[in-house]
Amino acid sequence: MEARILVVDDEPDVEFLIRKKFRKKIRDQELDFSFAQNGLEALEQLAQVDSIDLVLTDINMPRMDGLTLIQKIGEFRYNVKAVVVSAYDDMDNIRKAMNFGAFDFITKPIDFQDFENTVYKTLLKKKQEENVELEETLRELRETQQQLVLQEKMASLGNLVAGIAHEINNPIGVINSASDVVKRCIEKIEAALAQRQEGNAIEKPILLLKDNNRLILNAGTRIATLVKSLKNFARLDEEEYQEADLREGIESTLTLVEQQVCGRIAIEKRLSELPRVYCSPGQINQVFMSILLNAIQAIDGPGSIEIGAFAKDNRVYIEFRDSGQGIPPERLSRIFDFAFSRKSSRVTMGVGLPASYHIIQKHNGEIRIESEPGKGTVVTIALPLG
Ligand SMILES: Nc1ncnc2c1ncn2[C@@H]1O[C@H](COP(=O)(O)OP(=O)(O)OP(=O)(O)O)[C@@H](O)[C@H]1O
Ligand SMILES: [Mg+2]
Repeated sequence: MEARILVVDDEPDVEFLIRKKFRKKIRDQELDFSFAQNGLEALEQLAQVDSIDLVLTDINMPRMDGLTLIQKIGEFRYNVKAVVVSAYDDMDNIRKAMNFGAFDFITKPIDFQDFENTVYKTLLKKKQEENVELEETLRELRETQQQLVLQEKMASLGNLVAGIAHEINNPIGVINSASDVVKRCIEKIEAALAQRQEGNAIEKPILLLKDNNRLILNAGTRIATLVKSLKNFARLDEEEYQEADLREGIESTLTLVEQQVCGRIAIEKRLSELPRVYCSPGQINQVFMSILLNAIQAIDGPGSIEIGAFAKDNRVYIEFRDSGQGIPPERLSRIFDFAFSRKSSRVTMGVGLPASYHIIQKHNGEIRIESEPGKGTVVTIALPLG
């Protein structure tokens, strides 16, 4: 890439000499020179062009001298390197310039070999500093991303827990009231037995007992299913990576979002027999959850979600097709970036899809989204087999 150098000197033939000496490098677009007669002119150029890499400046100039210029560059353009050009015996000014942030100096009369060496040495130093800065920025970005993914996990876990608590509360309500009925039935039967009553006095409470026992059994089974799904979803007591049946993951995730579907959305499943996939089931389930929640949130009123799964060409494909509002093309092109979004009256930082993308990438898989506004969205995940 072309390096841009600004030479500041009030001697008129400096420009001519430099253009002549570096003719080839200028023609090859390796170096680009611009020139200013004094510090003020240099500052004007720096304000207009923000891609100048290096300023070489004389010291004694009218209007603004080189030392003031270097001082000003140091104050507001930290990414421009400055080199001072000075008489060999002018140690005092050279020291001042270095204190103001100059990177190096060359002496007058200019030795062009020294000039060239110094230019390349300074440009190299600048590149190295920029690389360090880039690496640092990249590291910070990665950390932020990891934090966001973790936050998303916590947030989705929070929602999940709230939903499950509600789900478990219903059957527990049933068990409590049924157990109350059972208690009263037993009291009635005991009273009837004590008074040696027969017939209706005993048969009616026994019928009620049977009914309520069935209610208790159903509620218990429902809680057991929920607990099993929860355990299956979180996979807390298992190895993180293992051979897993993705259909189980889909089923348990579906059980956990059932309350939000509420009979409003028809769920159709076409899950053919799937080979087991080596993956982190907990993480993949989190992806299923994000996609399903997005689909549910995109459907206003009644609608449908079709879930298909099949194996082809050494990959497993899982497809979620919803009849929701769809995604506009301009949003679709940046759908995996972290972005703010509006959900009813809430503005949230959407991290479900970026986190899902990250997880699927880690599994060497692929996640693709196609959408047509007004018609619906299809999210496809492909995971490699073996
Ligand atoms: N199936 C879909 N149908 C329509 N829009 C969708 C669908 N999936 C995602 N989107 C759009 O993409 C945005 C980003 O989704 P993402 O899951 O990353 O974040 P979010 O759902 O906004 O927030 P979070 O998942 O963190 O609660 C959503 O806000 C929504 O506008
Ligand atoms: Mg989401």
